[in-house]
Amino acid sequence: MSVHKELKKITTNTLQKMKMQGEKISMLTAYDFSFAKLFDEAGMDVILVGDSASNVMAGHETTLPITLDQMIYHAASVVRAVQRSLVVVDLPFGTYQSNSDIALASAIRIMKETGAHAIKLEGGEEVMDSIQRIVKAGIPVMGHLGLTPQSIYKFGTYTVRATATDEADKLKKDILLLQEAGCFAAVLEKIPAELAKEVTESVHIPTIGIGAGPHCDGQVLVMHDMLGINTEFKPRFLRRYLNLHEQITSAVQQYIQDVKQKEFPNQSESY
Ligand code: KIV
Repeated sequence: MSVHKELKKITTNTLQKMKMQGEKISMLTAYDFSFAKLFDEAGMDVILVGDSASNVMAGHETTLPITLDQMIYHAASVVRAVQRSLVVVDLPFGTYQSNSDIALASAIRIMKETGAHAIKLEGGEEVMDSIQRIVKAGIPVMGHLGLTPQSIYKFGTYTVRATATDEADKLKKDILLLQEAGCFAAVLEKIPAELAKEVTESVHIPTIGIGAGPHCDGQVLVMHDMLGINTEFKPRFLRRYLNLHEQITSAVQQYIQDVKQKEFPNQSESY
């Protein structure tokens, strides 16, 4: 029997046990009540209220503009829907990088005002003070290494990270620092599969990959990409499980046509 069927609610301990027992962890983003309810009821292990909300919900080009208040609005909506999944919320850009007092205050606001179970933040050694303070306050922290979208203007491109030895070496050190600081898991984004394998095997905390190959302890995707709502975004790592863009467009066009042709509503749809 799988670990997640034995336990009612998914906790950080459940994820740890899943890694130990070789059961892969499923994680998907959600930003609102209705989708979070669907994903929770479908059996998702972790729901990530990602700062990708900045892109897919608000239409910004990067994740940088989204605010803490906006993340709290999305996260509170998700938490109201969830019975079983672990809900992790991204600390948005600017709410933890400047100093650990600000980081702790941001994390506390998320936990207090949303009811979420954990926070996620990007970076390794550079944000270690903040991670330590947040963990010390009893708040579970998920790390995020590799392509960290909040640093996109430093990278200048969304291409695969840590292909050069120095960056790969830093990532290998950073994952150990995250583990030592008490992070319960870490996302590895867009790094070579072999590096992700080595990193995953070097720690006892679970790694959750996106564009990091099959050897991570779990996988995460952005819901709009995985459901085919976005059609322009086509990275190699993305598998589309639906073509909602096509299905929604055709349903909406049918509705427009029915309204224009006075076919909706009919007699049985009227009072
Ligand atoms: O914001 C987000 O959706 C993320 C995932 C891509 C891991 O951080």
